[in-house]
Amino acid sequence: MDLISRTRAAVWHPCTQMQHLEGRAPLAVARGEGAWLIDTEGRRYLDAISSWWVNLFGHCNPRINAAISDQLTRIEHVMLAGATHAPVVELSERLGRLTGLGHAFYASDGASATEIALKMSAHYWRNAGRPEKNGFISLQNGYHGETVGALSVTDIPLFKATYAPLLRHTKQMPTPDARRAEPGESAEAYALRCAAALEAHLAGHAASTAAFILEPLVQGAAGMAMYHPAYLGRARELCDRYQVHLIADEIAVGFGRTGTMFACEQALTPSSCGIPADRAGVRPDFICLSKGLTGGYLPLSAVLTTDAIYEAFYGEETAQGFLHSHSYTGNPLACRAALAVLDIFEHDQVIAANRAKAIEFTQILEEVATHRRVRNFRHLGMIWAFEVSDAGPGFADRFHRAALAQGVFIRPIGNTVYAMPPYVVDAAAMRQLADALLACLGEAEV
Ligand SMILES: Cc1ncc(COP(=O)(O)O)c(C=O)c1O
Repeated sequence: MDLISRTRAAVWHPCTQMQHLEGRAPLAVARGEGAWLIDTEGRRYLDAISSWWVNLFGHCNPRINAAISDQLTRIEHVMLAGATHAPVVELSERLGRLTGLGHAFYASDGASATEIALKMSAHYWRNAGRPEKNGFISLQNGYHGETVGALSVTDIPLFKATYAPLLRHTKQMPTPDARRAEPGESAEAYALRCAAALEAHLAGHAASTAAFILEPLVQGAAGMAMYHPAYLGRARELCDRYQVHLIADEIAVGFGRTGTMFACEQALTPSSCGIPADRAGVRPDFICLSKGLTGGYLPLSAVLTTDAIYEAFYGEETAQGFLHSHSYTGNPLACRAALAVLDIFEHDQVIAANRAKAIEFTQILEEVATHRRVRNFRHLGMIWAFEVSDAGPGFADRFHRAALAQGVFIRPIGNTVYAMPPYVVDAAAMRQLADALLACLGEAEV
């Protein structure tokens, strides 16, 4: 049997109606090379969405490969309860310096990081003598993962509706998604209007609310919804005022995706709007990291928090401590991959280099941005997105297929087409992407 038949028979693919796979074969990938995927027939496809937003420095990156190979000769895994190892210690120290937070707690995927942040927040309030503060708020259209706790704060109906009876009740705040601004209203004014609604909610419910979780600057699964950084500044201010934790879910946007190492660094406090960006930035109470953390190599996530929160768990009683564990917590191979990623960021000055690349790539995509079918073309850091005005039912799948035929692996969300390439992508590949997008937009039946 060929690989496609075997995958149909043996693998339950994620986020997939398996019957749909009968007519449409998934891409059978044999290997990867930089920003490219190579299928079992030897055809090459640009990985324009970084394999679900995880890959930063290309497939089979020699530096990350070398770090993992070296670690394989030392220790592949050891449990982190009752043991420790150099890769997890070094990674925790470096993540602490980068985020301004500390006490890194590890898991294997993004959803688990969300679970950890939610549990830690509620447990903090319990330890602080305020157990009634155990509710959560999040943004409309937010996405934080699909395990039961994470899904409770996610607000994507397709993922949530079926499982609603299993979930905890949470409240969603108006999304500052700039596309929702009234005609003539600036993205900033709209963001601040949404922040006013957040304040109204907190004024009435802070006593029962543990934390507000959000995706800073870009709501990825909502369709790369981008919003003004003034919202983050105001959210920080309001969470402080009403004593509610701010959880920054940087799982998708962390590690340079929005143009800074972490998106929270771009927050503008309302009083600072309009002053130089180096005075900007907020520090959340918790930051959730995953995806790009290992450059897309191995499953790893981390939650870092403040000293004050950490200290509320520190004491004689076991039950006062944070009671949560995963078998692969702090896996040494994954930590070495993450350390190699941080080395590349430092050595290659990736954030600065990406700034120049992003300007060039935006120019390359100019013809796409102005195409008659394209609406809301937007860009932040290494993310580009737009809506297709006349997209009918089944558009995402048709566009995906048409792009594959052009040598590009891309998966629209509804009528939103987006590119989120690995940072190693070059101008020639971006030109191929632009040509492929134009060809797809030119096909009447897509
Ligand atoms: C913002 C955000 N949070 C959480 C998650 C969940 O991560 P995972 O798929 O690794 O569980 C994702 C995944 O796309 C995400 O984009």
